Amino acid sequence: MIKVLFVCLGNICRSPLAEAILIQKVKERGLSNSIVVDSCGTSDFHIGELPDERTLACADKHQLTIQHRGRQILRSDFKGFDYLIAMDRSNLENVQKLAGKYRIVPKNLFLMSNFKNGLEFKDVPDPYYGGEEGFEEVYEILNSSIDDLLLTLEKVLEENG
Ligand code: 4NP
Repeated sequence: MIKVLFVCLGNICRSPLAEAILIQKVKERGLSNSIVVDSCGTSDFHIGELPDERTLACADKHQLTIQHRGRQILRSDFKGFDYLIAMDRSNLENVQKLAGKYRIVPKNLFLMSNFKNGLEFKDVPDPYYGGEEGFEEVYEILNSSIDDLLLTLEKVLEENG
């Protein structure tokens, strides 16, 4: 079993979309019993909220189901997940600071861009203050990155038998 946690700032735009995309791909490959997916934010801005309407519209457009309520990263997430994948360097730093506060040295912390073959970006851009086209751009980045992430996860599953 591999557990993946996507992390952004508000947990209403990027990371819930990443979660929905990976869940869909995992389902398509029949891996739902092997890969668990969740998402969270580093901030407490949107705890308990549904994703942003523009996130939901984007998901709808791509036939993705989103069932998620905003939550903030927890201390237990450092142990509870095999991959903590931050959407950008700013949130990677936020998670590193939090780990420091808990005296945890996380070995399972990554950037989304770490998994994209033929690196074209470092940060998944924050679409919150922009227009709908920003959400489409985020979707395209996530969709191709998560294809590559899945290749990595499938290899790990194979190696672990
Ligand atoms: P997310 O986008 O981190 O991709 O969910 C944001 C959502 C909310 C805010 C910023 C970014 N905010 O400032 O409330």
